Amino acid sequence: MAFRVGVVGVGPVGDRILRVLKERDFSIEGAPVVMATRERVEMLADEEVLVRKVAPELFEGLDVVFFAGREGAKGASVEWGRVATDAGAWVIDNGGDFRMTPGYALIVPEVNMDAVSEENRHICSPNCSTIQMVVAINPLHRAAGVKRIVVSTYQAVSGWGQRAMEEFEHQVSRYAAGEPVEFDPSVFAKPIAFDCLPHIGSFKDGLYTSEELKMVYETRKIMEEPEMAITATAVRVPVVIGHAESVNVEFERPLSRHEALEILRDPEQSPGVTVIDDPQELQYPTQADCLADEHKDAVLVGRVREDPSVEHGLNLWCVSDNLRKGAATNTVQIAEGLIERDLLA
Ligand SMILES: NC(=O)c1ccc[n+]([C@@H]2O[C@H](COP(=O)([O-])OP(=O)(O)OC[C@H]3O[C@@H](n4cnc5c(N)ncnc54)[C@H](OP(=O)(O)O)[C@@H]3O)[C@@H](O)[C@H]2O)c1
Repeated sequence: MAFRVGVVGVGPVGDRILRVLKERDFSIEGAPVVMATRERVEMLADEEVLVRKVAPELFEGLDVVFFAGREGAKGASVEWGRVATDAGAWVIDNGGDFRMTPGYALIVPEVNMDAVSEENRHICSPNCSTIQMVVAINPLHRAAGVKRIVVSTYQAVSGWGQRAMEEFEHQVSRYAAGEPVEFDPSVFAKPIAFDCLPHIGSFKDGLYTSEELKMVYETRKIMEEPEMAITATAVRVPVVIGHAESVNVEFERPLSRHEALEILRDPEQSPGVTVIDDPQELQYPTQADCLADEHKDAVLVGRVREDPSVEHGLNLWCVSDNLRKGAATNTVQIAEGLIERDLLA
């Protein structure tokens, strides 16, 4: 069976959705209906694509619409999500507008695909940093029970969207030419070439940023652990694509490095995880590694080691492509999960 597919938003995430659909041979009837704020022809996933100006009639007859627009009141899924579901389509949404709204499923297929329900056809895909952390942590949680997580992120500029990638390129070329680095404070508050900014999103209660709070609340919702203790520090780093995270986990029960690696290396227990962990041989994952073809949809885990400063503690390092597993791939996997459950029709 083939499905009629729509994509709203053609920034780096929209581009990756079209790529991932092709790579995974997602069964599409005709060409996907690709929409953004204005009509034009654009190179997407290495093809010239007609991008239509989003309009209600374009949703008619679609089975599934992937949303990769901007967030907020004038954002794509607030404006068009209901239009799409009213037209009968499933919505799979990369944006953050509805992730924490009761009744909206927040899905990482390796962890909680069974949380989808036909009653609400608007499914949310989590924040990129949350996705890679729960893919790595959930198998260990099942084995030893997570008591507390302390996570620090090292997030690529592409996590902010197309404008941020262009802004970084501009800053880098000025930096390389020995010129003063100009910057647009509406993208990053300070120059990102070459510096690390402990500031992603906006500052909220308790002076945590919105990105840090997303990691706390979204992780609890996905893992169905409303009381789980989590604290996060989110840092933007001068990397184009790929987020890394240093994760310190305290478990209820003992879990050695050896046991954790056995679990993480087992694809049945740890779907989506690839372990790169042989420090003596300088084997550990870096952000560049997640761009390699064999790793592009994986969550790479390494530097697993016991933390003697707490009872039952472990440290690990995880890396993933924020535009693929952190966004596009996760949404296409959700659509595949709907097909497996005979829900997409
Ligand atoms: N980048 C990441 O690592 C990442 C990871 C996880 C989730 N996300 C989420 O995924 C979404 C897309 O991210 P991105 O980085 O690709 O963003 P982006 O570069 O800002 O691109 C946004 C796209 O959405 C379109 N758009 C914006 N408002 C719209 C509206 N009201 N109706 C229709 N189209 C609209 C824009 O159209 P025009 O081109 O016509 O301006 C543009 O093509 C965001 O919600 C983001 O938070 C991103």
